[in-house]
Amino acid sequence: MKVLVTGGLGFIGSHTVVELQNEGFEVVVVDDLSNSSEDVLKGIEKITGKQPVFEKIDLREKKDVQNFFKKHEDVTGVIHFAASKAVGESVENPLLYYENNISSLVYLLQGLQQKTEASFIFSSSCTVYGQAEKMPITEDAPVQAAMSPYGNTKQIGEEIINDTAKVTNISAILLRYFNPVGAHPSAEIGELPLGVPQNLVPFITQTGVGLRQELSVFGNDYPTPDGTAVRDYIHVVDLAKAHVIALQRLLNKKNLAKVETFNLGTGKGSSVLEVIHSFEKVSGKKLPYKMMPRREGDITEAYANTDKANNVLGWKAELSLDEAMASAWKWEQKVRNK
Ligand code: NAD
Ligand code: WQD
Repeated sequence: MKVLVTGGLGFIGSHTVVELQNEGFEVVVVDDLSNSSEDVLKGIEKITGKQPVFEKIDLREKKDVQNFFKKHEDVTGVIHFAASKAVGESVENPLLYYENNISSLVYLLQGLQQKTEASFIFSSSCTVYGQAEKMPITEDAPVQAAMSPYGNTKQIGEEIINDTAKVTNISAILLRYFNPVGAHPSAEIGELPLGVPQNLVPFITQTGVGLRQELSVFGNDYPTPDGTAVRDYIHVVDLAKAHVIALQRLLNKKNLAKVETFNLGTGKGSSVLEVIHSFEKVSGKKLPYKMMPRREGDITEAYANTDKANNVLGWKAELSLDEAMASAWKWEQKVRNK
């Protein structure tokens, strides 16, 4: 079975390509390399013994997407990762985000609706819940007014898929990721943020290797046990495996709803200080950090109720925060010592 993975050279996409190939899927990757590099193909090959087919395409180019579907007629399954994902940048340049994240999605769905049957998996985000009222967050918690254009593209994306699935042959699964972290345990692939990392874990590992002086902890006056904000950090390898299971579910579908939504998290909340302590434990290094005011737009806490993913999808996160931090640290050291 041939499957298209858009954004397949990015952080989550590359780990998913590995798991798909391990399960015997034939993978075609589409990526425009705007936030990744072709070297990732070699990393995937080192782990799985095989490179996926790679097409360098910018999914904003409608003609190129149409030509892709003509060339790869047998592609009826798509896992759609490709998107711009920096929250702050989306506030500065909303149209870049609306164009990239929305037009790509529309062109892909247009390509798929020509098929007799098609499966679509969408990278959504826990950001759609905003600051949810109840923890842990279930999938039926209300979607709240988006806090950024980036977050809005995920909400609009979900709506586009819901509307389209109703009237086409496309069945879809929306996966709402909590906070993906870590790297493949081989350290052949991992996260490679451009410039100064905005996310906690890459900032920590870059501080660990001496690339950054110290970590700023954004806020220690939150109403949480230690005062720092709480998130659900999920190992990227666990996350990647969920995509394979979701794809298999769509392919074996027997009277499934046209669109299903699942939270992907561990179900456990960890504070910023707990993440720092986990890093210190697995690396044996003391992390320099200072307390700073809250970051604008941040929420207090978010962690997933994973019952639906566990019981309906049949997937459960297996790796711990320590394992995630150890893999992120191994990857960071390898990248910097090249
Ligand atoms: P990433 O930036 O590492 O990967 C995205 C890939 O898509 C990159 O390789 C990039 O080059 C490619 N891409 C972007 N625009 C493209 C275009 N127009 N045409 C072709 N390729 C294009 O990001 P990631 O962390 O792997 O995230 C993957 C998906 O998961 C995104 O949709 C993101 O919004 C979503 N998500 C990520 C997180 C997170 O914290 N990493 C959390 C929730 C949801
Ligand atoms: C985690 C915690 C920070 C950096 C973002 C997006 C969200 C989703 C995942 C895609 C927070 C604190 C961080 C630092 C810190 N992406 N922190 N010092 O904010 O939960 O979510 O990524 O969908 O949409 O908003 O993740 O890793 O940025 O922050 O103290 O230098 O770490 O304040 O409490 P976040 P994050």
